[in-house]
Amino acid sequence: MHTEEPRTLGVPTPPGNQAHPWLIYGAYGFTGRLLVAEARKRGHAPILAGRDEGKLREMAGDAGRYRSFPLDDPRALREGLEGVSAVLHAAGPFIQTAPPMMEACLDQGVHYLDITGEVPVFEAAFEWDQEARDRGIVLMPGVGMDVIPTDSLAAMLAELLPDATHLELALHSPGRPSAGTLQTIVEGLPDGLLVRREGKLARVNPGRSEFRRHVEMGPPHPSGPLAGRLGGRRPVAPYTWGDLATAWRTTGIPNITCYMVTPRWQARSLPLLLPILRRLFRQDLVRRGLRAWIRRGPAGPSASRRASGRTRAWGRVEEKETGASAEAVLELPEAYRFTAMAGIRALEEVLQLDTGAAGTRTPAGTFGARWILDLPQVQLIQPPARRQKP
Ligand SMILES: NC(=O)c1ccc[n+]([C@@H]2O[C@H](COP(=O)([O-])OP(=O)(O)OC[C@H]3O[C@@H](n4cnc5c(N)ncnc54)[C@H](OP(=O)(O)O)[C@@H]3O)[C@@H](O)[C@H]2O)c1
Repeated sequence: MHTEEPRTLGVPTPPGNQAHPWLIYGAYGFTGRLLVAEARKRGHAPILAGRDEGKLREMAGDAGRYRSFPLDDPRALREGLEGVSAVLHAAGPFIQTAPPMMEACLDQGVHYLDITGEVPVFEAAFEWDQEARDRGIVLMPGVGMDVIPTDSLAAMLAELLPDATHLELALHSPGRPSAGTLQTIVEGLPDGLLVRREGKLARVNPGRSEFRRHVEMGPPHPSGPLAGRLGGRRPVAPYTWGDLATAWRTTGIPNITCYMVTPRWQARSLPLLLPILRRLFRQDLVRRGLRAWIRRGPAGPSASRRASGRTRAWGRVEEKETGASAEAVLELPEAYRFTAMAGIRALEEVLQLDTGAAGTRTPAGTFGARWILDLPQVQLIQPPARRQKP
């Protein structure tokens, strides 16, 4: 392990920061860099961390602090967390990187936050709830685009319909995902499609007719490059978002299905193609080829796309017996910009929590359903409204 003693960064250090030194692991990844930039913009001086010392040194420059250590060396990993109050983990696929980091955080008594959207990672964190309480730390996976907006929507809708039995959520994020996100999708595809039914995760056939549907993603975006690309009635395909784990804990609604807005041809063909892709992606050779192909593409959306892009999140709850339902739509900044903004603010909040909050926590379950509305460029474009079937 390489540790550099703290040096002064060329940014103001807020009073709380010295008392709570914290670290971003995966700092030189695409999203890691956005998180570091956002943290510095807000006056923090996070310790940059990852496994490649050269990249960290270059990124930290003359004035920054960095620590390089791998995740597969338990001793170096624990030494890397010494004296740190919290880790914001940005190195994915998290199915590979989160378990060792969470275990080390539990051992060292360090708060853990990450930007995963992977269901098995959330479920592993919830299994460690008691250990986290005993250690007096917070484990909070999912402080990015998935799951903060949808967790907040789920909580708002559940407040309106407290006896809801069914929850549906969808994200519309136009544009190409980052290479790291694509790689994470490739790793997760062999697991197939998950939903939550009667409180339990269930693997289901994505070709089922119940999943062939459209959702109303709020009023169409009025002007500019997003006109016609955002909002309105959109075809969706079922998807395994992290909300299958978090919305269940935040709201207690036992039946949850998640979707993503896709072009019409994908919504039609994906459910049929998925079982084939699933079998293909189980083969190492195919996965290696795909990884190489993904790495040849762009690391992520350009600065101008991140600045001008917008995302929508839709949620609907229903109480099957009475036919009552409620729906709402949030509009948000572009997905990676939102993840950077929300991730840093979530970390700031966690550092302010008292010890009674220890345990595995969801964002909306901890900060409240409407916390998200204070973030820049976040608005309820269609506020939660209750309907009753005639
Ligand atoms: N939930 C959300 O809304 C959301 C939003 C944005 C991103 N994400 C997720 O965040 C992750 C990162 O995305 P990205 O776009 O930043 O990807 P990226 O540019 O590929 O960066 C990945 C980072 O992870 C590090 N890493 C990967 N495996 C590692 C390991 N075994 N040990 C140590 N470091 C490891 C990489 O370091 P090396 O270069 O040394 O390999 C790199 O720093 C992805 O899983 C993505 O799906 C989620």
